[in-house]
Amino acid sequence: MDFDIADAKLAELGRQRIAWADTTMGVLASIRERFSKEKPLQGISVAACLHVTTETANLLRTLKAGGADVYACASNPLSTQDDVAASLVEHEGIPTFAIKGESAEVYYSHIDAVLDKFPKMTMDDGCDLVSRLHSERPDQVSQVLAGTEETTTGVIRLKAMEAERALKFPIVAVNDADTKHMFDNRYGTGQSTLDGVIRATNVLLAGKVLVVAGYGYCGKGVASRARGMGAQVVVTEIDPLRALEAVMDGFRVEPMEIAAAEGDIFITVTGNRDVLRGEFFRLMKDGAILANSGHFDIEIDITTLSEMAEGRQREVRPFVQEYVVNGKRIMVIAEGRLVNLAAAEGHPAAVMDMSFANQALAAEWVAKNAGSLEPKVYNVPKEIDSEIARLKLETMNVDIDRLTPAQEEYLSSWTVGT
Ligand code: ADE
Repeated sequence: MDFDIADAKLAELGRQRIAWADTTMGVLASIRERFSKEKPLQGISVAACLHVTTETANLLRTLKAGGADVYACASNPLSTQDDVAASLVEHEGIPTFAIKGESAEVYYSHIDAVLDKFPKMTMDDGCDLVSRLHSERPDQVSQVLAGTEETTTGVIRLKAMEAERALKFPIVAVNDADTKHMFDNRYGTGQSTLDGVIRATNVLLAGKVLVVAGYGYCGKGVASRARGMGAQVVVTEIDPLRALEAVMDGFRVEPMEIAAAEGDIFITVTGNRDVLRGEFFRLMKDGAILANSGHFDIEIDITTLSEMAEGRQREVRPFVQEYVVNGKRIMVIAEGRLVNLAAAEGHPAAVMDMSFANQALAAEWVAKNAGSLEPKVYNVPKEIDSEIARLKLETMNVDIDRLTPAQEEYLSSWTVGT
């Protein structure tokens, strides 16, 4: 079997951790059980470009149980859990191409390695796989039935491709399902981002000024969890509606020009570039900590920071680089890459359960319907979203009320008023 991983000897540790994650991924487990009987993905080769984590391993096991031939590569050079990659190869028989800390060159060679398998389906997190396929291998595109996309940034890129008529096969925007972004982006990012910042620095959040750039679902999660740990949270935004939401959620909202001088910790979650840049580095306090939890490493302008820095940057702890600007130290975590996956373990399994249940069911849906779909970005069907919410509640032993016949009738009637 063809693969490229850091160390096969880590496989047993990977297996244990994958099994641990599985204990809180009950929705995905129930889908895996059905898939193993019904084989809805029989004979379909799937190229999965995802963060190679314990949770992803359980998704890939589910696809395989459904009959798919699965090939995996990393969707970020720093997010791979090497023990998981080893277990995927050694125990699951899944050709995996992922090494934590791989260079950009190796990262793309790993994407190429899975594309060399001529997949019929793509499963992407950030759209690098689909973008590479369309731009470098146009002849291969017609062989792909369909795909799925995990994250906000990926969906934005796909919609740009659709608008330019560059997209050549249908893709389901898993990110846009309610049972994905309302939970993964908010509670997952909220918890795992702070986990990454704390593991890397051991900083005390209580009493600190923590600046969150961006108040989408991810920013909301980070802000609310940081407040819960006693930080004074400042939000920066460019969108008036989101800024208003942040104000009414009780946060101080300021332009970065003001916040830059006040913050002890800065976390970017905007999806845009240069959110923290030269004009702001200059204003920061000594010891300021900078982290990014947006998909790409573009939110903190590290190139300019390196140019401004006196002398060379140095690693002061694992995952923490110190730069000195105007005699003040600025600490950047994980090179400005996804802090939650680079310096911690990503979102907890219990929330990835819903995200990856969406992936598995979206793959099944798109495999069944690919023939009648156009090369566009599709939403996850509402029935799938509701079913995942129902199943998740069941795994949590939470029961809910049901409408009485009179209530059902009332909701469908327009004649009853005052
Ligand atoms: N994205 C964020 N957290 C993740 C995780 N634990 N596994 C895979 N993708 C993720």
